[in-house]
Amino acid sequence: MGFALLPVLVSVLTIQYSAAQSFKCSSSYPSTCHALVGYITVNNTNLGAIQSLFSVKNLRSLLGANNLPLNTKRSYAIPAQQVIKVPINCLCNNNTGTSSGAPIYTVQPGDGLYHIAAEVFSRLLLFQQIAAANNIRDVNLITIGDKLKIPLPCSCDEVDGQKVVHYAHMVKSGSSLGEIAQEFGTNEETLARINGIKADSDLKADQPIDVPLKACNSSISGDSFDFPLLAANGTYLFTANGCVKCMCDAANNWTKVYIFKPLTISGILALQSANFHIIYNYAVLVRLHCEPSQNKPSKWDTCPSMKCQGAEGLSIGNSTAAGCNRSTCSYAGFNNSTIMTTLVQDSSSCSRTASPPSNDVSRINSSWDCLFILVVLCFHLFQ
Ligand SMILES: *[C@@H]1O[C@H](CO)[C@@H](O)[C@H](O)[C@H]1NC(C)=O
Ligand SMILES: *[C@@H]1O[C@H](CO)[C@@H](O)[C@H](O)[C@H]1NC(C)=O
Ligand SMILES: *[C@@H]1O[C@H](CO)[C@@H](O)[C@H](O)[C@H]1NC(C)=O
Ligand SMILES: *[C@@H]1O[C@H](CO)[C@@H](O)[C@H](O)[C@H]1NC(C)=O
Ligand SMILES: *[C@@H]1O[C@H](CO)[C@@H](O)[C@H](O)[C@H]1NC(C)=O
Ligand SMILES: *[C@@H]1O[C@H](CO)[C@@H](O)[C@H](O)[C@H]1NC(C)=O
Ligand SMILES: *[C@@H]1O[C@H](CO)[C@@H](O)[C@H](O)[C@H]1NC(C)=O
Ligand SMILES: *[C@@H]1O[C@H](CO)[C@@H](O)[C@H](O)[C@H]1NC(C)=O
Ligand SMILES: *[C@@H]1O[C@H](CO)[C@@H](O)[C@H](O)[C@H]1NC(C)=O
Ligand SMILES: *[C@@H]1O[C@H](CO)[C@@H](O)[C@H](O)[C@H]1NC(C)=O
Repeated sequence: MGFALLPVLVSVLTIQYSAAQSFKCSSSYPSTCHALVGYITVNNTNLGAIQSLFSVKNLRSLLGANNLPLNTKRSYAIPAQQVIKVPINCLCNNNTGTSSGAPIYTVQPGDGLYHIAAEVFSRLLLFQQIAAANNIRDVNLITIGDKLKIPLPCSCDEVDGQKVVHYAHMVKSGSSLGEIAQEFGTNEETLARINGIKADSDLKADQPIDVPLKACNSSISGDSFDFPLLAANGTYLFTANGCVKCMCDAANNWTKVYIFKPLTISGILALQSANFHIIYNYAVLVRLHCEPSQNKPSKWDTCPSMKCQGAEGLSIGNSTAAGCNRSTCSYAGFNNSTIMTTLVQDSSSCSRTASPPSNDVSRINSSWDCLFILVVLCFHLFQ
């Protein structure tokens, strides 16, 4: 009897542990997206070793995720205990997100599943999750040379109506939701909600927490192979078979500033779903800046044309200004044969309080806004 019970107990434990450490990904059909995990280096190492550990195809995607210069070499030294952002492909299925296809880890002499999860992959996942993903029945029985799928936590969910890049951040002991929110430009309520926790006391050190990073707004078309093309703030990436380099940098000239005073809740929602970042009493649309990469493409012999139709001479990333109006030739995606472009008109510098981006926002009614803000303030003060 005792023997028969044992496997049942183990599987119950496995389910509990997995539930505690996977990220919610609620897309109703299987979908994929780009995500990041924060790997904490165990020993002194270099970029090349991290690239192979996580089976990252191109070094430049590792460089872009960490905003390192493009000429950084594989031998670039990384000291122990440093956080490196590693790009992964996320597969969202059955309410959970896990990395798909990579990393694949080859079992070395002396390895155990616990060592692989807790030491090699810096606790980004639990050994029970590796066991489950690889149908390993006896966690003490793995063979040198076995190739193990490593299901890292990730998500593709929109957050508050915005497309974001989900980042698996390892919680340090003693840190709080407020600190993490501030470090990554989000807020405590959102962090708590998407991680299914209530308070700082629910935060567990050395476990990953799902942090939604703001992504740049692009002109990407829904039928592009790389839709929705999400680049997190402060990162760059390559797309269109390597022909195009895109940068998400809040500090560059691609920032639009609108000043609204004050905002309604529907105004806020409308702005957020149009990908604006609301900062105190103004809103910013951080646009993805893309330009030809000058790289040799991976699937084409040469890169297709990157010129905007009807604006001869303008390539992706170029703009012309007529007074305060600016038109920019923007990257709009790619397919088997074509790189798509679109001309984006921007008149936000025509006046300090530029026109709102949508009808919803222009329906703002000031008196109700003040009332709303008062109610919210009182609620927070007196609860
Ligand atoms: C989906 O998840 C539930 C519990 O989270 C599990 O019982 C079920 O087996 C899963 N289905 C598939 C197809 O993985
Ligand atoms: C780190 O270095 C120690 C000592 O050399 C070694 O035992 C351990 O396996 C290394 N850890 C990893 C994850 O490489
Ligand atoms: C984007 O990153 C910069 C620094 O890299 C930071 O100053 C800025 O607050 C971030 N913006 C958002 C909206 O997260
Ligand atoms: C950035 O914006 C400033 C002010 O709008 C302008 O003077 C400058 O030329 C711009 N720089 C680039 C590289 O477009
Ligand atoms: C970018 O912003 C525009 C207007 O604000 C919006 O219509 C569009 O959906 C956004 N694109 C993405 C990819 O979020
Ligand atoms: C377009 O941008 C490229 C750099 O990406 C620059 O070399 C070129 O001169 C620009 N062309 C025009 C017409 O501004
Ligand atoms: C800017 O564009 C608007 C319409 O988009 C137009 O009414 C206005 O005259 C333009 N201003 C300049 C200086 O070209
Ligand atoms: C690629 O996109 C272009 C522009 O949208 C379109 O004309 C062309 O038919 C598409 N080609 C394929 C193979 O889908
Ligand atoms: C794109 O090309 C691949 C092979 O190169 C082919 O399998 C696929 O069907 C093509 N897709 C489209 C939309 O033409
Ligand atoms: C704002 O709402 C108040 C109360 O409903 C109404 O009396 C007023 O006319 C509205 N103002 C505008 C500009 O719509």
